[in-house]
Amino acid sequence: KRHLVSAADLSRDDALLILDTAEELAQLSGRAVKKLPTLRGRTVVNLFFEDSTRTKTSFEVAEKRLSADVINFSAKGSSVSKGESLKDTALTLQAMGADAVVIRHHASGAPARLAQSDWLHGSVINAGDGTHEHPTQALLDAFTMRRHLNAGLGNDLSGRRVTIVGDVLHSRVARSNVHLLTTLGAQVTFVAPPTLLPIGIEPNPDTGAAGWPCEVSYDLDSVLPKTDALMMLRVQRERMNAAFFPTEREYSRRYGMNGSRMAQLPEHAIVMHPGPMVRGMEITAEVADSPRCTVVEQVANGVSVRMAVLYLLLGGATLADTAARTDSV
Ligand code: CP
Repeated sequence: KRHLVSAADLSRDDALLILDTAEELAQLSGRAVKKLPTLRGRTVVNLFFEDSTRTKTSFEVAEKRLSADVINFSAKGSSVSKGESLKDTALTLQAMGADAVVIRHHASGAPARLAQSDWLHGSVINAGDGTHEHPTQALLDAFTMRRHLNAGLGNDLSGRRVTIVGDVLHSRVARSNVHLLTTLGAQVTFVAPPTLLPIGIEPNPDTGAAGWPCEVSYDLDSVLPKTDALMMLRVQRERMNAAFFPTEREYSRRYGMNGSRMAQLPEHAIVMHPGPMVRGMEITAEVADSPRCTVVEQVANGVSVRMAVLYLLLGGATLADTAARTDSV
């Protein structure tokens, strides 16, 4: 495979190869090997049309640890604000010799459009497109779950129960996670207000159309004791019509994660959040700052996972070769 556009494109073997490679790369970093020469002489462009803190910085760290030449492009302050199209932006980057483009875009489907086009010859990696997908987020989430839920190298997440709570309707993280987690054998339950669930998530009894490969519940308290990993989602007000904003008090009461709900989780269960968190509404500070919450660890794991994706899409050398030629800095 040359591109990573959707978690749905990953087979179980693809996903395990990325997760195992990320684990090996994380272990190299833990052994004070800070920089690998794998992408020396290759140019990676981070093409961000939408704001980002975690994804943008962790891709940049990953690219630099693999010795790539990195170009950071933000739509704000570029000729996009003068009306330049995605095609002309891509052709410009191609003319500068981009070997890979990491793209975040407000339009669902923009990374797929780039990957299918002949505007760019390099790899396209989706860093989040509209409400569609965020595959590297799902990979770093699965990596974090494997580490906490006793599923080591070579193992999938068979039988693990993952509950994803909140604004599923607007969440590319939820979409990528349901694809990847089910590919890896986990059971996914979504908990959300009916207004924040996508049409078609549940099977349609009239048409017989299948729903998503998940359970749906409206009662968070009943699902918590059967959860191994709880993933809270951000309420994405910027993608909502103001008329559909849930009230903060009502949302927190029914779907917010707090200390008393945390006590209902099994002892081994973790609380996850892709970030950015809206503290108070979807998660209290008591939970966000507790040792069971993996938010900061997810960010650190994102560097290893993104290194693995770049390494596998652009690399070429085997991991053993690369480790033997390591630059320690
Ligand atoms: N999780 C995530 O995508 O965060 P950013 O928007 O900060 O990149």
